[in-house]
Amino acid sequence: MPSLPAPQRARPRKGDEVEVTIDSLAHGGAGVGRAEGFVVFVRGVVPGDRVRARIEKAKRSFAEASLVDLLEPSPDRIEPESPHPGAPWQVLSYERQLEEKERQVREALTRLGSFEAPPVEKIVPATEQWRYRNKVEYSFGQAEDGRLTLGFHRPGRWDVIDGIESDVLASPRVDELRQATLDWCRERSLDAYDRHTHEGFLRNLVVREGRRTGQLQARLVTSVGELAQDELAAALPCDSVLWTRIEGVAETTRGGKTKTLKGAAELSEELDLRGVRLQLKISPDAFFQTNTEMAERLYAIASETAGLTGRERVFDLYCGIGTIALALALDAGKVVGVEVIEKAVADAIANAQLNSVDNAGFYAGDVRTAMRPLIEQEGSADVVVVDPPRAGLSQKVVRRVLEAEAQRIVYVSCNPTTLAPNARQMVEAGYELKTVKPVDMFPQTPHIECVALLERA
Ligand SMILES: C[S@@+](CC[C@H](N)C(=O)[O-])C[C@H]1O[C@@H](n2cnc3c(N)ncnc32)[C@H](O)[C@@H]1O
Repeated sequence: MPSLPAPQRARPRKGDEVEVTIDSLAHGGAGVGRAEGFVVFVRGVVPGDRVRARIEKAKRSFAEASLVDLLEPSPDRIEPESPHPGAPWQVLSYERQLEEKERQVREALTRLGSFEAPPVEKIVPATEQWRYRNKVEYSFGQAEDGRLTLGFHRPGRWDVIDGIESDVLASPRVDELRQATLDWCRERSLDAYDRHTHEGFLRNLVVREGRRTGQLQARLVTSVGELAQDELAAALPCDSVLWTRIEGVAETTRGGKTKTLKGAAELSEELDLRGVRLQLKISPDAFFQTNTEMAERLYAIASETAGLTGRERVFDLYCGIGTIALALALDAGKVVGVEVIEKAVADAIANAQLNSVDNAGFYAGDVRTAMRPLIEQEGSADVVVVDPPRAGLSQKVVRRVLEAEAQRIVYVSCNPTTLAPNARQMVEAGYELKTVKPVDMFPQTPHIECVALLERA
């Protein structure tokens, strides 16, 4: 008798509601479940939850859905501290968060890097599980009652802003500063930028805190318009106030014209690096690790991983304001940093001077095009450190990095799914993946940082 064709699985369509049990968490934090065999990603859930979810996007082999109803909560769920779209993992105990991050690093290296038994070490837990962020970007919006509000985008909504009472990831001083800014803007009847019509004035409030210096900085980001600058500067409880005016419609706090209304434009911060105090100046647009206390741990781990003896030539690629370079300069012969943002390079040079570090130099440039001139000028490197953005390195950039012929490559990664293929390419070029150490810089969130060592076989 001829065999019957396999029954067709009905692919859920946009708007359908499905019931799923969540089996695991995917990279980025969405829960993964199956509706009649079809893979569904659901935000805001944890493994063990049974949920009803609405399909928002249906692709060929999977769908993305939003949570409609929590039918049976997972036994792993705990009561969240306070609603916060940036802290979705606060419904999991900290131990479960750590387990999950370590598992995800291992899984990414196996699945995307084809490492059969990746050398993943035990995750380094964070020193502070709450209120650790030194930088927060809030958005202005209009609440349903028409009042001005200041908080975060509602998950999945580019046009709706929910106010926040208590930001459990930032210090209580940041809560006070945010509230004072909102009160002042309401008193002046200033309006929020409307993301549909592109009209309105107030866009964002960026707050930075020097966790070691106690300095607090507010940067108000607006469309072009008028502002009672002296009054704002006097009203805000912080050391410096900046005002950035942006002309375009893009949702960004970068670029535009920034004016200092009070205090200094650069934030002062300090890092304790194995007993040595490093003083830092950070420009408004420059990248700085958002968890100061854990940045100290991260840089100490990067430094140990580099295995320096005092003679090595080190390249610090994607060096930002020079923090890793300055940390490694303590134990290296010479360190050369490369960074694309010119203001950050200026900060790096100033930070080297501020700390009397005379064996570190910095170049402004794109790593993709800067590697060959760098090698021509400086020669090959003993150690290369890379700390790229989440997108990782393109295959071409990996090839350029390999041209430095370093004995060791220390890869500081904020995304194991891009670390994995980059490490595979390096292994195919003759390196061995020796260790991968996850470091928890971002408790209550799905973000994962790790430091990998690749050594020339
Ligand atoms: C994850 S941050 C690391 C910064 C620094 N290592 C630290 O720990 O503070 C990545 C840095 O790479 C810079 N960057 C991004 N793309 C780049 C490129 N194509 N070439 C050079 N630098 C780049 C960013 O401006 C940012 O400062």
